[in-house]
Amino acid sequence: MTANTSRSTVLTGIGTLVTNDPTVGEGPLGLIRDAAVVFDGGVVAWVGRADSAPAGDVGHDLDGRAVLPGFVESHSHLVFGGERAEEFAARMAGQPYAAGGIRNTIEATRNATDEQLEANTRRLLDESLRSGSTTVECKTGYGQTVAHELRSTTIAASLTDEVTLLAAHVPPPEYAGRADDYVAMVCAEMIDACAPQAKWIDVFCETGAFDRDQAHAVLTAGMAKGLIPRVHGNQLREGPGVQLAVELGAASVDHVCYTTQADIDALAQSSTVATLLPGADFSTRNKYPDARALLDAGVTVALGADCNPGTSYTTSLPFCIAIAVRDMHMTPDEAVWAATAGGARALQRADVGVLRPGARADALALDAPSYLHLAYRPGVPLVRDVWRGGELAWSAHTGHEKARALR
Ligand code: NIG
Ligand code: FE
Repeated sequence: MTANTSRSTVLTGIGTLVTNDPTVGEGPLGLIRDAAVVFDGGVVAWVGRADSAPAGDVGHDLDGRAVLPGFVESHSHLVFGGERAEEFAARMAGQPYAAGGIRNTIEATRNATDEQLEANTRRLLDESLRSGSTTVECKTGYGQTVAHELRSTTIAASLTDEVTLLAAHVPPPEYAGRADDYVAMVCAEMIDACAPQAKWIDVFCETGAFDRDQAHAVLTAGMAKGLIPRVHGNQLREGPGVQLAVELGAASVDHVCYTTQADIDALAQSSTVATLLPGADFSTRNKYPDARALLDAGVTVALGADCNPGTSYTTSLPFCIAIAVRDMHMTPDEAVWAATAGGARALQRADVGVLRPGARADALALDAPSYLHLAYRPGVPLVRDVWRGGELAWSAHTGHEKARALR
């Protein structure tokens, strides 16, 4: 991260400010009307009403626009080769989604050069930034050999601090019918090689991918090397993913589309976040998760875009917020919280997803007076300015773009 340590910046003329700090403003979003924010040294120095804002070196008058914390994208698969538009078209014509499509991307990823993989990852990080994501988790999972996963981990680690080793995505073709052997190799070799560059260990626990015992083996092997678990679970049918995540104290279980009451109760009594990925359900015509049941039970919910070439080729959290409100019956406040503070919880980060003194100066301004417009105006590119570490990282107004690395 490049921090602006020399000059303070004051954002004035903020119509509605989302702080996610209920101690300074209204409701869970900590809303302040007619607000100002000061950034200094890469962090938030002050938030409050514009009429009591301190002076700063540089001023931006936002002319009544809304300002929010930068989105915290806690689930994405950006290191891959190729694309699968034909598979998408076949699905829209009635084919079901099956985990096996991942193998096509494994082949394309193995065949890509280092330069191609890195360029594709940067391209998608730039795209994420333009829709307001200032923190982006990035998974591996399309190499599935030690060397290819190490290559993906290295590329991801050069671009973001939030690197997830998705060591067990699907058994690759050379292990067809031998998932146990693949898991043994992951636990004996792959995790040792890749763990130093990763923070998280992930597994796809689903029929056609890995069963509960295999997922348990991979996650505990990763934990033994200092990685923190997260799980792809309950995406395509009910299954053991949610309970396994809770049992292991995973930071997050992601997808969570098919849940029993016991799954919801277990999540509600745990610190595991349920990360909902409506872009994947939209693009696979899957059942949306029962967000209301999760929220009403007290589960912490995050929203992610799940950018990947198979199930969800979008980087847009604004799009996911709109679906979450329209089709998953989340309130706009819940959806905005889930894409900011919720993502930060899923990544166990206290310094992002919130605008309070000391937090990272990551924020976005909308071409709209209120965050409500994110759901109210679906598909419209409302994100106008994005600051990361106190610097203007992208602006629709000037076309200025500095997305190149999130670290
Ligand atoms: O999060 N569910 C597993 N992994 C990805 C899909 C990967 C793919 O189809 O390429 C997901 O949806
Ligand atoms: Fe995923």
